[in-house]
Amino acid sequence: RLGLETKQLGRSIHYEETVDSTQRIAQRLAYDGAAEGTIVIAEEQLGGRGRLERSWHSPKYKGIWMSIILRPRIPIMQTPQLTLLMAVAAVKGIEQATGCEPGIKWPNDLLLNGKKISGILTELQADSDRIHSLIIGIGINVNLELEDYPEELRNTASSLFIETGKEWDRATIVQSILLELEKLYSLYLENGFYPIKLLWESYAVSIGKRVKATTLNGSFTGIAKGITDEGVLLLEDDNGKVHHIYSADILIES
Ligand code: BTN
Repeated sequence: RLGLETKQLGRSIHYEETVDSTQRIAQRLAYDGAAEGTIVIAEEQLGGRGRLERSWHSPKYKGIWMSIILRPRIPIMQTPQLTLLMAVAAVKGIEQATGCEPGIKWPNDLLLNGKKISGILTELQADSDRIHSLIIGIGINVNLELEDYPEELRNTASSLFIETGKEWDRATIVQSILLELEKLYSLYLENGFYPIKLLWESYAVSIGKRVKATTLNGSFTGIAKGITDEGVLLLEDDNGKVHHIYSADILIES
């Protein structure tokens, strides 16, 4: 139905019309032992979840609302690497399918003309020493119009349609992203994070810029210097002190 050319990813696809959240369904499938590469995709989410306890607006037929189950044998510390990997796969897939090249704002927002068109949420099932599964959820605003967004999102959120003036075929975009994801994931399992990090950095729009990072421990302003091998953001404040930012909201100031 999606015409996938992948080998492992998407061998098992759970397609739904309306769900609460594809993350929730994927969590349950993963818990019940679903194979690596299982995908949950829905036309509409009524309770779409974003990072930092936010909700994710997911109107019917307008976007790609998808969760992917991976089971990498890596230390729990390294899970942010997979989120960054997903962001790279999404950029490359979107570029192939539409010709638009979004930039990545750390950790994993995809921006087009400075506005957010996609976000990634990774959730983990693990015990103290082992990852059972990673549930990587991606939301892509494909054919949403400005009126589809609640008022308060209209300045910051956008869609491929709004930025290009064209409607895009969602299945084609899903195909390209999953193909890229499969390639990058095997590259990662064979060669580690370094090649992925280089790709991520080549698409990053926040690195080298002055940013404000709002974290649970307060906000920090400074220059985003880069990311560590674990995917942690390095932010140098005005006193030259480098902060490790694990989770935050980033505002690019210049
Ligand atoms: C963010 O930028 O805050 C992350 C948004 C992630 C949204 C996707 S849509 C598919 C999957 N299911 C969810 O409930 N959330 C993710």
